Amino acid sequence: MVLTLRVEDVSVRLDGGPALDGASLDVADSEIVALLGPSGSGKTTLLRVIAGLQRADGGRVLLEGEDLRNVPPHRRGIGLVFQDHALFHHRDVAGNVAFGLRMRGDRPGAVEQRVRELLALVGLVGFERRSVGTLSGGEQQRVALARALAPEPRVLLLDEPLGSLDRRLRDRLLEDLSALFARLRVTAVYVTHDQTEAFALGDRVAVMRDGHIVQTGTPDELWASPADEDVARFLGLGIRNGVAIRPEAVAVRRVREGERGDGVVESATRQGPTVRLKIRLVEGGELDAAVTSLDHPAAGDRVSIDIDPEGLVELR
Ligand SMILES: Nc1ncnc2c1ncn2[C@@H]1O[C@H](COP(=O)(O)OP(=O)(O)OP(=O)(O)O)[C@@H](O)[C@H]1O
Ligand SMILES: [Mg+2]
Repeated sequence: MVLTLRVEDVSVRLDGGPALDGASLDVADSEIVALLGPSGSGKTTLLRVIAGLQRADGGRVLLEGEDLRNVPPHRRGIGLVFQDHALFHHRDVAGNVAFGLRMRGDRPGAVEQRVRELLALVGLVGFERRSVGTLSGGEQQRVALARALAPEPRVLLLDEPLGSLDRRLRDRLLEDLSALFARLRVTAVYVTHDQTEAFALGDRVAVMRDGHIVQTGTPDELWASPADEDVARFLGLGIRNGVAIRPEAVAVRRVREGERGDGVVESATRQGPTVRLKIRLVEGGELDAAVTSLDHPAAGDRVSIDIDPEGLVELR
């Protein structure tokens, strides 16, 4: 694996206390790492350190082996896409995408050519002269992406780029992004607090908590063996007596007449092809089950459960 980006034991103290506390992360060439963590865990701060917008109090950042300590942000070869896209509202679409290219002194002909390529790439051909204020949220986000990709950054950093968009648009852009990244062989760190998004886009997912990264792995690796109770819970696994239970391993059936059952369904929520059941257990506590049958128990139903031992994860 050829390493592009290495974050080594980075710490940042802000007035409140540590925003980063020994964060380490490796990103290989052409790899997308999704940085997943709850609000306040330090995701944005970590991106800001990598981009050179925030000084680290300890640790270092290496890009292709080079220590970035004394490299200013605009010389790092890093592209940024943030949630509020921060487009230049006094420039049109082409002007926004051309910005980085003009800044580094590309010839006007080359700039024009590259802008055309990028707009084609993000599906905005014909939008050149549109004022960015007249674009939809999704279109603005594509402009931001095109602007960040135009100078061919060594690494792309994205901070909740789809955060302000509605669910349907998000799902569509997520697929577009995934295909685009694969085609361009982009190296990227993609911040999100949405597990579905992280799993959909990340070749690997780094789970962040309290200013550092607690576990890194492919989506399957994380699902198979979460590092601890917090990670398991954050990913949506159930916990019983120090054991994590994958919801798909919990089989559920309505009780027959007179049967006591193991619990009562509190809620049943469809999530695409599966229905997520929250079950209040007779013995106390709750358990999640993911079922695929259309004839699934509903809220209020008394149920018996059966857990496949394959779905149990002993937590360390
Ligand atoms: N400018 C600042 N001054 C003081 N504290 C800050 C500053 N920026 C961030 N922090 C604190 O640092 C911690 C990490 O913040 P950060 O913005 O990196 O979290 P995050 O994971 O990006 O959260 P979110 O998902 O809400 O965007 C938080 O406790 C936050 O309050
Ligand atoms: Mg943030």
